[in-house]
Amino acid sequence: MNTILITGGCGFIGSNFIRYAFNQHDDWHIVNVDRLTYAGNPENLKDIESDARYTFIHGDICDKKLIGSVYREHKITGVINFAAESHVDRSIMDATVFFETNVKGTMVLLDAARQFGIERFLQISTDEVYGELGETGYFTEKSPLKPNSPYAASKASADLLVNTYYRTYSLPVLIVRSSNNYGPYQYPEKMIPLMIIRAMEGKQLPVYGDGTNVRDWLYVGDNCRAIDIIFKDGITGEVYNVGGSMEITNINLVKKLLDILGKPESLISFVTDRPGHDRRYALDISKINEELKWESIGSFDNKLRETVQWYKDNAPWWKNVLNKNDYQDYYKKMYSKRKEEVR
Ligand SMILES: NC(=O)c1ccc[n+]([C@@H]2O[C@H](COP(=O)([O-])OP(=O)(O)OC[C@H]3O[C@@H](n4cnc5c(N)ncnc54)[C@H](O)[C@@H]3O)[C@@H](O)[C@H]2O)c1
Repeated sequence: MNTILITGGCGFIGSNFIRYAFNQHDDWHIVNVDRLTYAGNPENLKDIESDARYTFIHGDICDKKLIGSVYREHKITGVINFAAESHVDRSIMDATVFFETNVKGTMVLLDAARQFGIERFLQISTDEVYGELGETGYFTEKSPLKPNSPYAASKASADLLVNTYYRTYSLPVLIVRSSNNYGPYQYPEKMIPLMIIRAMEGKQLPVYGDGTNVRDWLYVGDNCRAIDIIFKDGITGEVYNVGGSMEITNINLVKKLLDILGKPESLISFVTDRPGHDRRYALDISKINEELKWESIGSFDNKLRETVQWYKDNAPWWKNVLNKNDYQDYYKKMYSKRKEEVR
């Protein structure tokens, strides 16, 4: 039996990954350490919480004592670190907790991994560490790290730290840098669930700037499959880009969602841009394609439709989230002062 520590497993990608891993690995026991911040939602794992192969620990990855006892008592063999403060806009308001969790928390996990002789440590990172692209080109795993937001800077710092534990202590680490994920259980501050839910409610859809910023979209199920393959077969010390090869401007994506939902484009409202907003991200994924034979499966339009359907079918899930004070406060802070701009 492998005992895998998953951190941040009550968040969006972590909860999807735990569900995926349970279906793939009968011989895994998963220990999920999650602080249950505003983004951590135990409801995401309701169907799994009583499984004998699952242990939940409510705790902070920055808590050295707790993490040491988790590694020791559960005889952890591998670690996948999803836990993070993950929203760029919140990092622009206050970066403190981003550096606490994303950098210090990663260091605590790495130190314990050294102490307890962990066989595999997978750091979940992001394409945002590379900074932004112009109209052409792709980031490879060798592109320099040039983060532009406090969030991206904290993730890049963690990546640098992870690399030093490989070089200095030969800790068996790997890093995954993925593009923007979408799918079920995503906290509705992020673009796709935000737009779907507001459109379903007939509310205005706030689009930053002129809407021409480009993102590459990766279905969370494809990402979970990639993470699983990299954890199993990736080469120690290596970085792997994981992208959906689906570049689209924000405005075209919002129009697609409105079309799927049968809602009018008059709901779109252009608002003041995010400060330092990166123009374009795009990943060269030939390394994972060729070396690990991973590719995304199915069409973007179908996966987007399925995602819309999930939010339609799971209104109690998102209504619970929306009714919490944190979400209300955040939305007011973020959007009430943003001017509507006529385009
Ligand atoms: N969502 C994306 O599009 C995307 C893209 C690329 C990379 N990533 C990375 O993937 C990882 C997961 O992202 P997500 O979208 O699922 O994030 P999320 O915000 O939905 O979930 C983060 C989880 O981490 C937990 N957490 C936060 N601080 C913690 C702490 N100190 N100790 C323990 N748990 C803590 C939260 O409670 C939550 O459950 C992050 O590392 C993020 O940087 C996300």
